[in-house]
Amino acid sequence: MIGYKTLAVPGPTNMPFEIRQAMDVALEDHRAPDLPEFTLPLFQDLKKVFKTETGHIFVFPGSGTGGWESAISNTLNAGDKVLTASFGQFSSLWVKMCKTYGLDVVNCDVTWGEGVPLEDYRAILETDKNQLIKAVLVCHNETATGVTSDVQAVRRILDDLGHPALLFVDGVSSVGSLDFRMDEWKVDVIVSGSQKGFMLPTGLAIVGVSQKAMDAGKSASTPRDYFCYANMLQMNEQGYFPYTPPMTLLRGLRASIDMLTAEGLENVYKRHNRLASGVRAAVTAWGLENCAVDRKWYSDTVTAIRVPKSIDANNVIKTAYHSYGVSLGAGLGPLNGNVFRIGHLGWLNETMVLQALGGVEMAMRDAGIRFLPGCGVGAAIEKYTDTKAPMELAAE
Ligand SMILES: Cc1ncc(COP(=O)(O)O)c(C=O)c1O
Repeated sequence: MIGYKTLAVPGPTNMPFEIRQAMDVALEDHRAPDLPEFTLPLFQDLKKVFKTETGHIFVFPGSGTGGWESAISNTLNAGDKVLTASFGQFSSLWVKMCKTYGLDVVNCDVTWGEGVPLEDYRAILETDKNQLIKAVLVCHNETATGVTSDVQAVRRILDDLGHPALLFVDGVSSVGSLDFRMDEWKVDVIVSGSQKGFMLPTGLAIVGVSQKAMDAGKSASTPRDYFCYANMLQMNEQGYFPYTPPMTLLRGLRASIDMLTAEGLENVYKRHNRLASGVRAAVTAWGLENCAVDRKWYSDTVTAIRVPKSIDANNVIKTAYHSYGVSLGAGLGPLNGNVFRIGHLGWLNETMVLQALGGVEMAMRDAGIRFLPGCGVGAAIEKYTDTKAPMELAAE
């Protein structure tokens, strides 16, 4: 194929040149005497992205799934009760993992397209008079359906009820892209990965852990070793790791944090909202439906788009890929064939979104979806030109 491919999946995301260059270094000694001069400020500055001063941020070789596992194995025992909700592929997979670990799962089965059911969470926690529920799980941004849940509201429920359960959050497709505040929302474990908001290759599970979760680990006897928080903390405090760290990715992570903080996290969130609004305008103009059933759930990092019943969404995805070099996200689990997903997170601007939308329009026409060519792209253009760009907002 001649020309750039368009990566419009919700992770991995586009990698900025600054990050590529930062990783284009000779391999280095991970036990070098001066390594802490690099790692200690890195650990410190990572806290800014998670908005924590009191938590520890651990960088494990791995991916988001490893981060989920670390949350369970470091703080809980088999038989412990946890409150969960499944409303998409990723929230469901974390629930499945809880069961694999022998946890006693109280799960709210929610329609895919909705998010964490706050009233159900409240009702279940209210009846838990003996406070047997040890952890409450929230998938902040369900990447399979394009649904963002209200983490802060879950914290409020726990506080209202004086419930001491740990709060675990999956922030794989939210941290570094959507508003997330570890300290303010008193999140005990926040799981993220390198290949989405951090704009890096896959390979890191980046996990924020509160002191309360570290303390819970002292009485948790679930076997853990590779993902052990206490071992990691002990070595990290001296600027080192318990095993060989992926130094090249850590160099990239340094550049990523610098880019996010230079733009300013609030501007990063605004940019994602603005880009998402263009995609949503396009969906409406095409006459299609967002998989998220209510605007309060709309995600600013990914949109899952339902195709008409007579159309196989996989045809749109395959045509976009083979004919136009555009990678779109597939419908996962029961949504396969019913939706395609556009990722709009990471290192992205308006023109890149329009390029993806143009590719989607061509693929949808080829797949037999009827709409006025250009109407989605046009609606996004209107959105972007009728509202102020982040740079103008920052100048105000
Ligand atoms: C919300 C969410 N959680 C967890 C995961 C799993 O992460 P990974 O694929 O990095 O293991 C993903 C992956 O896309 C995700 O989107």
